[in-house]
Amino acid sequence: MEWLNFRLDILSTLTFAFCLVFLISFPNSVIAPGIAGLAVTYGLNQNALQANVVWFLCNLENKIISVERILQYTSLPSEAPLVIKDNQPDNSWPSSGDVHLRDLQVRYAPHLPIVLRGLTCTFTAGAKTGIVGRTGSGKTTLVQTLFRLIEPVAGHIVIDRINISLIGIHDLRSRLSIIPQAYNV
Ligand SMILES: Nc1ncnc2c1ncn2[C@@H]1O[C@H](COP(=O)(O)OP(=O)(O)O)[C@@H](O)[C@H]1O
Ligand SMILES: [Mg+2]
Repeated sequence: MEWLNFRLDILSTLTFAFCLVFLISFPNSVIAPGIAGLAVTYGLNQNALQANVVWFLCNLENKIISVERILQYTSLPSEAPLVIKDNQPDNSWPSSGDVHLRDLQVRYAPHLPIVLRGLTCTFTAGAKTGIVGRTGSGKTTLVQTLFRLIEPVAGHIVIDRINISLIGIHDLRSRLSIIPQAYNV
């Protein structure tokens, strides 16, 4: 950039100097002094103008990366619909909070290994349940699956007789609460 700016500065200075000589060497009758003065003020701006154009062109490459990123995002598969009209849970759901997991299989992406392999269990309503496991055993993954941040590959989760995969994600997420952990345990 510095090299380019330096070269362009020299180029515009030379052009300007040439124009000045050109303007001065003509007699007053050919080029009126007023017009010549106006030409000189425009010529002085030429430098800054040129720098702007060069700056814009050099930045264009960076700016096009944003466009590329937007294109990438638009081709991402989107989440399940927020609300499924003919399958909305009633307002009281989930009234008790019975959670059943059946043969739940979860993975983060098709090319990644399965994290939860065929998990089957029941969390009875009103009970306080502790889930114990060493780091990486899938505790956080289980909670994320309850909110459908990750969709199960197989199996299903039933909360108060409703399969959570069949309702809209807004209906699901607005009915559950989470208190995030302060320390990763
Ligand atoms: N965002 C993610 N993308 C890919 N793999 C993940 C992601 N989060 C967790 N995992 C993998 O899933 C497994 C379970 O992780 P996690 O549920 O965070 O365990 P825990 O909460 O029990 O420590 C680990 O093997 C981890 O590498
Ligand atoms: Mg965790």
